[in-house]
Amino acid sequence: MCRRFANERLVPQAQEFDRSKVSLATLAELAQLGVLGVCNAEAWGGAGFGKLGYVTAIEEVSKGCASTAAIASVHTLYCSCIEHFGTDAQKKEFLEPFASGRKIGAFALTEANAGSDAANIKSDATLEGDHWIVTGEKVFVSNVPMASAAVVFVRANPHGGAAAGRADHLRNGGISAIIVPLDTPGVTVGRSIETLGIRGAPLASLSFDGCRVPKANLLGEMHRGFQLAMAELDGGRLGMAAQALGIAEASLALATQYSRDRESFGQPIGTLQAIQMKLADMRTRVESARLLTLSAAAKADTGERYTVEAAMAKLSASETATFCAHQTIQILGGYGFTSEFAAERHYRDARITELYEGTSEILRIVIARHQYRGGYR
Ligand code: CAA
Repeated sequence: MCRRFANERLVPQAQEFDRSKVSLATLAELAQLGVLGVCNAEAWGGAGFGKLGYVTAIEEVSKGCASTAAIASVHTLYCSCIEHFGTDAQKKEFLEPFASGRKIGAFALTEANAGSDAANIKSDATLEGDHWIVTGEKVFVSNVPMASAAVVFVRANPHGGAAAGRADHLRNGGISAIIVPLDTPGVTVGRSIETLGIRGAPLASLSFDGCRVPKANLLGEMHRGFQLAMAELDGGRLGMAAQALGIAEASLALATQYSRDRESFGQPIGTLQAIQMKLADMRTRVESARLLTLSAAAKADTGERYTVEAAMAKLSASETATFCAHQTIQILGGYGFTSEFAAERHYRDARITELYEGTSEILRIVIARHQYRGGYR
């Protein structure tokens, strides 16, 4: 179903979305298909397919349009946070309308000085009566401004007053997650940020200037927000692996077709060994990354911890996307450098997959620590 949707509805519009953002009409179509809540429980408006269904859907969507896949993936990260850590009341308000795709969600962790070092965030929430007063600024927030709510990570002070009650000294322990409706007075969406790739996916900063958010919007346990973010980013990394895989496959399909159509030295270039070596390497890396992604998703569906599997899947798939997009331009030659072909868009779209939701370097650290320690600590 997703493959058909990608071929019929996304491929023809992907270039336009790259210029002027993914249309809301297309997201409504995705919602209609159940893709915006593909791994969420049916009881909460989702399709109930689990992580294996999720990566399969995102991979297919991404083959058609990586920007659309990015929006769906970050939205799923938001939905999964609420599903796994929310109370029933929170799920009713902040999951059901989102998993059904009527509203879009965002995940606001990163700050100007807290990217890979996510524990270094400074945004603040102080309890005053029945409300959190949220202050701070988040950068590179995907899905903003179209998102209606975000899971926002802050340093929470449950005792009110000055910083005395904050658990900053605990570093990771001082972080809590709060669900913030983005129409709350005091929330300002910054200007839209221009990017190299996935240009169809919205991205902006979010600032909070004394926003009053109900006390009941604390998500999960107080001061366990860092652990919540890390656990949910495991699922996010699966989505990003699937997105990268889609870009890699779209590149490979284009390179293959071109190598059949283009003749050089009196024969299709696909019969030349220089081209064959590239196609073989691309195919092998795509299949390897897909197996890692599917096996990580299958492990996630068992309920066991899958941090290292998700890290390996995203590392492999994102580097495969970069590799395949690069090789495809090499096979298309000068034509690959023009916007007459999708190769240059794939090349630009691939780049982010090695950066967001854990850079390749952070993922290597996660994998190496697991290897060195012989498991999780
Ligand atoms: N699942 C559950 N818990 C986890 C976990 C996981 N995957 N990873 C770590 N934890 C827990 C640990 O068990 C530990 O818990 P306790 O304090 O209870 O013992 C706690 O979290 C701290 O763990 P570490 O000591 O391993 O943490 P660290 O400070 O060394 O940092 C890191 C680890 C790997 C560097 C981490 O900071 C990290 O992954 N950084 C990258 C952040 C990232 O991916 N940011 C992307 C933001 S979102 C985005 O890209 C934009 C978007 O729009 C989506």
